[in-house]
Amino acid sequence: MEGWHGWDAYAPVYDWENVRTVGHRDIPFWRRQVVACGGPVLELGCGTGRVLLPMARTGEPVVGLDRSTNMLGLARRRLRRARGTDSARLVRGDIRSLPFASDRPFSLVMAPYGVLQSLLRN
Ligand SMILES: C[S@@+](CC[C@H](N)C(=O)[O-])C[C@H]1O[C@@H](n2cnc3c(N)ncnc32)[C@H](O)[C@@H]1O
Repeated sequence: MEGWHGWDAYAPVYDWENVRTVGHRDIPFWRRQVVACGGPVLELGCGTGRVLLPMARTGEPVVGLDRSTNMLGLARRRLRRARGTDSARLVRGDIRSLPFASDRPFSLVMAPYGVLQSLLRN
């Protein structure tokens, strides 16, 4: 089974659990990268928008890509409720086959918090 399985089921408890683990500790690092590189920024596996939302608040255009409908649903709700996140866009897709035109590059492509481990098979 590939590591992307299970995220739809995990979605309802993702934020509850992660506020107790990584919390916001990695956010200043990612914000610094976004400010240094400028947009557009692509977050691979954006999940519930834990990182995407503060990235959007920099004002740079940010795109969050995720395969899980439920994780994206929570990200959409989070962005809708927040202010200053109009620069964010959510896309459903697989990070192994990016649904973007190659003539429109991103300044920064980031994969925070174990996203690439989801590509492992067991
Ligand atoms: C550990 S979460 C990280 C979420 C977010 N980046 C964060 O820091 O909170 C991993 C995310 O990667 C997504 N994901 C895993 N494999 C994927 C794939 N092949 N394509 C797109 N998204 C994938 C999952 O649906 C999940 O939302």
